[in-house]
Amino acid sequence: MRSINRFSYLQSWGEKRSQWLAASESLWEIAQLDIQLFINPWSVAQWEELLTTDQNYILGSLQRRGNIMAFALLLYNPWEELGHLLKIFVHPEYRKKHIGIDLWQKVQKVSELQGAKRIYLEVEKSNHAANSFYQKLGFVSLNEVSHFYGAGRCALTYHLILN
Ligand SMILES: CC(C)(COP(=O)(O)OP(=O)(O)OC[C@H]1O[C@@H](n2cnc3c(N)ncnc32)[C@H](O)[C@@H]1OP(=O)(O)O)[C@@H](O)C(=O)NCCC(=O)NCCS
Repeated sequence: MRSINRFSYLQSWGEKRSQWLAASESLWEIAQLDIQLFINPWSVAQWEELLTTDQNYILGSLQRRGNIMAFALLLYNPWEELGHLLKIFVHPEYRKKHIGIDLWQKVQKVSELQGAKRIYLEVEKSNHAANSFYQKLGFVSLNEVSHFYGAGRCALTYHLILN
């Protein structure tokens, strides 16, 4: 039987806030993946802060048979019509199968429906997979920020203009 990937998203703002709070269990599941497997994980406190935030976060995920395969976290600023992609992560088992592209396209659509005109992000310069991934998605490199991730760990910034 063919497995179906299910996309869902949560939003921390406006009418969707109650759903965000009600889904704190799945948010915590994503936080666990981040903490265990991400190169630059957030602390537990940073994840917990998402439950009290009054900012507009969008958390998209792809699941298969109830397991989280991938997630992306974006902070959206409606006044600047600007999205800041904070994290995108595909579980190691599912990498290089275009799951990341699929997830991003869906999160991009949610952001566009919110009114986003531009997305920007930072990524560690040495993270070749992620740099190639963003370039493939059409992100354009802007500049280099020294020591962004700690001593000697440089970031590249990228942006994507949306139609
Ligand atoms: C970066 C990441 C999200 C890519 O997800 P993915 O599902 O494996 O990527 P996709 O299969 O959708 O690949 C899309 C394109 O990205 C590029 N790409 C992805 N992984 C790559 C790799 N390991 N090496 C080189 N290019 C890569 C390729 O251009 C690829 O297109 P192609 O298959 O037609 O050549 C994934 O590697 C990941 O979760 N990494 C750890 C977390 C991370 O570093 N996140 C980004 C920083 S916040």
